[in-house]
Amino acid sequence: MIEFDNVTKQYSRDAYALRDISLTIQDGELIFLAGPSGAGKSTLLKMIAGIEKPTSGHVIVNGQDISKLKTGSLPYLRRKLGLILQDQKLLTDRSVLANVMLPLIVTGAASGEAESRACVALEKVGLLDKANALPLELSGGEQQRVAIARAIVNRPKIILADEPTAFLDRDNANKVLSALKAFQSAGVTCLISSHDEQFLDQADRVIYLSNGQISDSWTTGAAA
Ligand SMILES: Nc1ncnc2c1ncn2[C@@H]1O[C@H](COP(=O)(O)OP(=O)(O)OP(=O)(O)O)[C@@H](O)[C@H]1O
Ligand SMILES: [Mg+2]
Repeated sequence: MIEFDNVTKQYSRDAYALRDISLTIQDGELIFLAGPSGAGKSTLLKMIAGIEKPTSGHVIVNGQDISKLKTGSLPYLRRKLGLILQDQKLLTDRSVLANVMLPLIVTGAASGEAESRACVALEKVGLLDKANALPLELSGGEQQRVAIARAIVNRPKIILADEPTAFLDRDNANKVLSALKAFQSAGVTCLISSHDEQFLDQADRVIYLSNGQISDSWTTGAAA
């Protein structure tokens, strides 16, 4: 479970990214975080991963208050999360497979084990046949699915995806969303930000942010 308890994030004296957010996300939910540019979507996702800390309030992930975590414990928290962030690009000088293996290699997995788990992750996003390609030989949508494979290779219980469908055409965006929804069917909590409203009806719940506040929130047919 993820809980926001009266969370405010102020970057500077009069720049509020989030104001007094209270929110509970149950295990296994598929949530779309919507709202215009600057609304606070990325900030909210980064708080769950401990990348940004609240100015006031608490963010609690699986019973643990993230703002009280020591810096040394953050890598351990992040290993349990699948992060697909706007500014985390694939490494272009190595294969798709090597990119997906990387989170396992940096945490000390043996290379044989890392390779077989990376192949499983690539298969789940439908890209096992591209394992030996370089990222730039793939389409934008395929690259985004490689980023999903890299994010789930540690078998996280929570996936945070920041604008995973940005810059994709409808067909590729649908493939990316299908890949994420397949993890939700397997019990993973998915929190996806998007300012593209055409996909919102695919979520269990939509949380609409504007000016750092939840201005609207609704459940869709999927959860009702
Ligand atoms: N590191 C930072 N320093 C100062 N202000 C910031 C910082 N990061 C974000 N902000 C401000 O906080 C507000 C929310 O930003 P955020 O990135 O969370 O919005 P967003 O909803 O993700 O927007 P987009 O749809 O463009 O990605 C914006 O006004 C932004 O300028
Ligand atoms: Mg953003």
